[in-house]
Amino acid sequence: MRILVISDIHANMEALDACLGVAGPYDRVFNLGDIVGYGASPNEAVARSRELGGLLVRGNHDKACSGVSSTDDFNHIAALAAYWTKQKLTPENLEWVKVLPQGPMKAEKIAGVQCVHGSPLDEDEYIIIVRDAYQPLTETDESLTFFGHTHIQGGFAVDGEEWLTLRPVYASADKSETFDFQLKPDAKYLINPGSIGQPRDGDWRAAFAVFDTSAYRITFHRAVYDISAAQKRIYDAGLPDRLATRLRDGR
Ligand SMILES: [Fe+2]
Repeated sequence: MRILVISDIHANMEALDACLGVAGPYDRVFNLGDIVGYGASPNEAVARSRELGGLLVRGNHDKACSGVSSTDDFNHIAALAAYWTKQKLTPENLEWVKVLPQGPMKAEKIAGVQCVHGSPLDEDEYIIIVRDAYQPLTETDESLTFFGHTHIQGGFAVDGEEWLTLRPVYASADKSETFDFQLKPDAKYLINPGSIGQPRDGDWRAAFAVFDTSAYRITFHRAVYDISAAQKRIYDAGLPDRLATRLRDGR
């Protein structure tokens, strides 16, 4: 089975469509949250996520944009975008976002696999460096956890006594590309597909992953997309300029 693993779409339809265009065939979808917030196409991103279906967990922006949580711990720009998104979402889409489930969610019929937004221990926690991964990897029973939230593609593993940081390596910086990573049956993994709509790992290309369950392999993807079109929507919406300019920097 091939599973499309997507996260942190952040209402960027140009990026999402580009990813779906290069993903190839897949049987199921894992969507790790932050479907909305920051970007200017919230209803479109929700509609496409509803179509794609599969396993979904909520992100902190989904909560803030739908009124499930406050924006008190958001910076000024994120809070402004959340407020804008809440006004923009149709009542039906707002309700759909509001009732997105909290992770961790176990994958149906695939043993040892779960999905979270931030961490298996706390949906809002950031796992940025291997030290952050220590407790989640030690305390979770699942051998493979897909997470998002940091917008950094790659992940962490513990293999016996060894702790590892995984970062895909790509040949170019401006073409759509893939990087294969073979999982080991005895190791425990935290895998981040990266962010579709607002990458922050210095690579502007939209990020996602495909999990091949029978080969037990992750294929990381970077997809080029029409950044200018996504930026124009942000400017036209009157959202803060920074939300548009940061896309080109991948920060
Ligand atoms: Fe996010």
